[in-house]
Amino acid sequence: MNIYAKLLLLCSIGVAFIAVRWSATSFNEESLKGARVLVTGASTGIGEQLAYQYARLGAQLVITARRGNVLEEVVRKCKEMGAQKAFFIPADMASPPDAERVVQYAIEQLGGLDFLVLNHIGPSPYSMWNGDVEHTRWLLQVNFLSYLQMAQKALPTLEKSKGSIVVVSSLLGKICGPFTLPYAATKFALNGFFGGLQHELAMQKSNVSITICILGLIDTDSAMEKIKGYINMTAYPAHESARHIVEAGASRQPEAFYPWYTFYACLFRDWFPYFRDLAIQNSYTYNP
Ligand SMILES: NC(=O)c1ccc[n+]([C@@H]2O[C@H](COP(=O)([O-])OP(=O)(O)OC[C@H]3O[C@@H](n4cnc5c(N)ncnc54)[C@H](OP(=O)(O)O)[C@@H]3O)[C@@H](O)[C@H]2O)c1
Repeated sequence: MNIYAKLLLLCSIGVAFIAVRWSATSFNEESLKGARVLVTGASTGIGEQLAYQYARLGAQLVITARRGNVLEEVVRKCKEMGAQKAFFIPADMASPPDAERVVQYAIEQLGGLDFLVLNHIGPSPYSMWNGDVEHTRWLLQVNFLSYLQMAQKALPTLEKSKGSIVVVSSLLGKICGPFTLPYAATKFALNGFFGGLQHELAMQKSNVSITICILGLIDTDSAMEKIKGYINMTAYPAHESARHIVEAGASRQPEAFYPWYTFYACLFRDWFPYFRDLAIQNSYTYNP
């Protein structure tokens, strides 16, 4: 085979790979009618949009976050949008008993669970690391350990219902960047833990699927406020990201990427580390 034939073959394989990667998933919207769903961090941002996506498709919902008055309003909108049932439970994931209490409440209200959607994050500064170990310890409880507690509590009921755990993670849990060290550490931890759990569940022939969602920059108020003055890049719409997450969970994809560039960033992450790191450092503004 001459060099041109080899190049053509390589290009064809590349195109086929990309086409398969982005081809439509087998997502049947009807399958979510009546589905029993618990969404965390649903008072605002992507979590709020997730609640609306499930509501629109006729799911039964329990939503949680700390602010009960805001959750009450989200529940009202979910009912208007078509949720078969919608309840809320205020909880602080910094408090370990709250994580299990929320899952227990959802199981009682809905008679079981089909989807556990883990999305909440605690507030964390967007700045150079100041050496505050205690903040990272606290954030690990909110962003990581509470996810494990909720998954552990929900697994028996998800096993019965052939259900799914959906973990909302970040490109910053795959590729290191500046200014978000404690946050990124919790996201790397999530990817490592739930990626490993995917193997263990498969080896045990479990009915439960896990979908890990890798998100890039999304236009939520909290994200936009944080990056102001540090980085200038396109933020993608929260409702679109929520639609992708719901679809990926329902079609039991092991890993989902939104927006498109996150997939390629992960694919090529280790090919040219010197240029990757240069590009990352040059894309931020730093004025000490
Ligand atoms: N936005 C982005 O650019 C982006 C990029 C990549 C990944 N993600 C991921 O997407 C998910 C959602 O991000 P987002 O931008 O929508 O976040 P957000 O707007 O800051 O919302 C965070 C949610 O978590 C809740 N929360 C905060 N502290 C809590 C605590 N101690 N206990 C329980 N709930 C708590 C908040 O509600 P209360 O204040 O009422 O508690 C809120 O509902 C996160 O997992 C994030 O890592 C986001």
